[in-house]
Formats: sequence, C-alpha cells, structure tokens
Amino acid sequence: MTSFTITPLTGHTGAEVVGIDFTEPVDAETCTVLNRAFAEYHVLVMRDQDFDPDEFKAAAQLFGQLQIHDRKEQHVPGHPDVYYVSNDIFVNGKRMIPGETFHTDHSNHPAPPKATTLFAVELPSRGGDTQYVNMHDAYDDLPAATKRRIDGLKAVHVYQSKYSPRALSGLNEESRAKLPPPGVHPLVRTHPENGRKALFLNPVRMESIIGMDDDDALKLIDELMQHATQKKYEYRHQWRDGDWVIWDNRSVMHQANPDYDMNERRYLYRLMLKGEVPA
Ligand code: SIN
Repeated sequence: MTSFTITPLTGHTGAEVVGIDFTEPVDAETCTVLNRAFAEYHVLVMRDQDFDPDEFKAAAQLFGQLQIHDRKEQHVPGHPDVYYVSNDIFVNGKRMIPGETFHTDHSNHPAPPKATTLFAVELPSRGGDTQYVNMHDAYDDLPAATKRRIDGLKAVHVYQSKYSPRALSGLNEESRAKLPPPGVHPLVRTHPENGRKALFLNPVRMESIIGMDDDDALKLIDELMQHATQKKYEYRHQWRDGDWVIWDNRSVMHQANPDYDMNERRYLYRLMLKGEVPA
C-alpha cells in the first residue's frame, strides 16, 4: 500500500490526505482506506495534486461513478463531462457565483449524487473559501420532539424552487429537456455506509413538504437551516494551490463565498458521483 497520512481537520468534519500522487495508479487497499475515510470524515482534502481534466476524471472515479451535471452547456472546452465553477460566468450581464447559499447538490434528482468534487485550477490570492456543515451532527443534536416531527416527512425537490433564496443559472432547451422528474426525499436520511442519520435539506430546490401548507413548510425548513448552519457544525475550507476536495452530499451541505477580488479568477474543475435513492 502507498504510504500516506489522513489527518482530521476538525473534531467532526474534514480530513487532509497527504502523500499520494493521484495521477499515478492507486492500489485497491489504498482505495478502500480512502473510501472508508470519506464515509467517516465526509470531506476529504487531497493536497498537492496537479490534474488535467482526464486525470481529474480518473481520480474522482476512485470514489464512484460519474454523474453528469444538469447544466450541460457549462463544461471545460473539449470535455463535455467535466463541469467547472468560475467567477467569470455572466447571465444577462450579471455575475453568477455558483453555490452561494448552503445546499446539497442536484437534490432535484430521484437519486441525487452521493459526492461532488472540485480541483482548484486557479485561485484568488485570498478568500473564496468553501464552507461545509455536518448534517449528521445537526440531526443528532435536534430535540426529541423535532426528530419525532420530521421523521417520516418528505419534500419535493425541483430544479429551482419558487422559494429559492437565489437564482440558478438557467438551462438551455437541451439541458431542460433532459431534467429528471422531481426528487421526493425524506427530510431525514440514513447514510448507507456509515449508518448515521442526517438532515437532508436544500432550500434552493425544496418546493414543498408533502402534507404541509407552504407557509408551515417554509417555517420548518428555515428553523432546521438555522440550526444546521451553526458554526459548531462547520468545516471551512481555505483553498490552497493543488487542492483536490471531495465531499459527501449525504452528510454535509456546502456553500461558496464570493468575498474576494472579482478581478482575480477563481476556477475549479467540478465532477459529481452517482448516488442512491435517499432512504
Ligand atoms: C459548489 O460546488 O456549490 C461551489 C463551491 C465553491 O465554488 O466553493
């Protein structure tokens, strides 16, 4: 097995992996150890990588199978299956910063992606951190009465909820035609690998909670979001050159920060990995 270290970054979320060059073949034992660490720490930060898009794709598949993004028109030139996030995307003259409020990815899918991964190609000199909050701990800490209230509730997740706190970049006709039917997901799901329960929330996509009127549903979602986004649940990733980060959408929500000099470029390759129907 390759010699490397895995070091926790907080007491609850995130671990740093040092000592592996992921452009080289990775043996099966190392792959198993990494996947176990992923289920335990929810966010892995692999330092000192240097990927072209194909190398990034190969490395990501150590953790699962690729899932194509809904917005197919936004991809690395020549690589239709490699998406990117960047601060130089403009829609109707307005700069769009993808992922600016807490969310989990593509929960509008009946089987949302289990993981999302970013590789830093170009970073601003400061700022542009990504924040993660631990949805297992957030669930565990809820009062028993709240747990009883939400266990069994299901929400309808669409591409963009009419109640979304922010607008998403639109889709072209082809991408829109390929959208799946809405995801109908429990508010509390159990992680298939670590066995822990987690809150499963996404105000960008949740349009209703089945059996509740919208005012009550929005109040409940707001209350749960306030709880889940407390600093005590957070790992805040400060990007370094060479960082490859992968996170578990079943365990954490994440958000981007547009708090840096927009004359500097922030550009990261982005891939998602297929997940299962939340249960
Ligand atoms: C996202 O994937 O939602 C964006 C995260 C980031 O750019 O920090």
